[in-house]
Amino acid sequence: MNTIEALDSLRAKVCAWKGAGLTVGFVPTMGNLHAGHLSLVELAGQRCDKVVVSIFVNPMQFGPDEDFNRYPRTFQADSEKLSSAAVDVLYVPSITDMYPNGLTQSVVSVPSVLTGLLEGASRPGHFDGVTTVVCKLFNMVQPDVAVFGQKDYQQLRVIQAMVQDLNIPVEIVAAPIARDTDGLALSSRNQYLSKEARAIAPKLAVVLQDIALAIESGNRQFDVLTAVAVQRLLDEGFDSVDYIQVCDARTLQAAGPSCQSWVVLAAARLGNTRLLDNREVVLLEG
Ligand code: PAJ
Repeated sequence: MNTIEALDSLRAKVCAWKGAGLTVGFVPTMGNLHAGHLSLVELAGQRCDKVVVSIFVNPMQFGPDEDFNRYPRTFQADSEKLSSAAVDVLYVPSITDMYPNGLTQSVVSVPSVLTGLLEGASRPGHFDGVTTVVCKLFNMVQPDVAVFGQKDYQQLRVIQAMVQDLNIPVEIVAAPIARDTDGLALSSRNQYLSKEARAIAPKLAVVLQDIALAIESGNRQFDVLTAVAVQRLLDEGFDSVDYIQVCDARTLQAAGPSCQSWVVLAAARLGNTRLLDNREVVLLEG
C-alpha cells in the first residue's frame, strides 16, 4: 500500500492505472477505522482492480458545538489495518489541498427536502460539508466506483442525489451495515460507551427490527409503532431518543400510504454518545 499526501502524486498514480485500462474503487473515510469500514474496502476490491481509501477529518461537516477537535485520530492503527486489506493507495489529503481558499469557498448543496430532515434537522450545514468534501474527493481521485455504508443511510441518499443531479460519473455502491455479534451497528462512537451503556445499546437494533417485522407483516400504523419503540428504548435505559421514523426508502420523506419501500431510521442517546441505526423493510413477493 502506498500512502500519498500530495494531490499531484495521486493524480499521476490514478492516471497510470486508467491508462492501463484498470478500474478504480474508492472508499472515503474520516479514519478511526473498524470492521465496518473494512467491509467497504472489501466491496470496492470486489468491484474494481484498484482501491483507494481516503482519510480526512472534514472540518466543514462539523457544527461549531460538535466534536471536530476531539474526533479520534488514529492514523498508525488505521494505516496498519488498511495495509492488511487489499488497499493500493491510502490518500491523506492536506487541509490546503482540500480547502485552498479556506472553508468560505464554493459549496455543493443538495436540496433541503433531503438534507433538512432527520440528521440534517439537528445538524444544520452538516450535509453541505459532506457533499462538498465528497464532490472534491471525487474530483481528486476520479474513481469509477465509490462505496458508502448504509449505516449512514441519509448520507448515502444525499450522495446518490448529488451524483445524479450533477451528472458525476461515479457509480455509488451501498454497503450493508456491519454489526457486532449482538446486533449493535459498528461505529467509532461505540468505544465511548460505558460497560452498562454498551449492554443497553443493542436494543436500538432490536426495536428497529421489530418495527420492520411489523411492517413486513402488514402493520401500517407507523406512528403507533414508533411511539411504542421510543418508550421501549427509554424503559431499557436510553437517555433520549432524537427520532425514530418510518420513511420512504427512496425520498426519506415520512412514509405515506402510497409508499412501496420503507426504511426505519433512528438516532438515540446513551449518556453523551449518540447512536445511529436503521433497518430497511423487505417485503417478500407473493
Ligand atoms: P466515516 O464516519 O469515517 O464513515 C466512512 C464510511 O464508512 C461511510 O460510508 C459510513 O457509512 C461507513 N460505515 C461506518 N460504519 C459502518 C458500519 N457499521 N457498516 C457499514 N458501513 C459503515 O461518513 C463519513 O466518514 C464522512 O461523512 C465522509 C463520507 C468520509 C465524508 O467526510
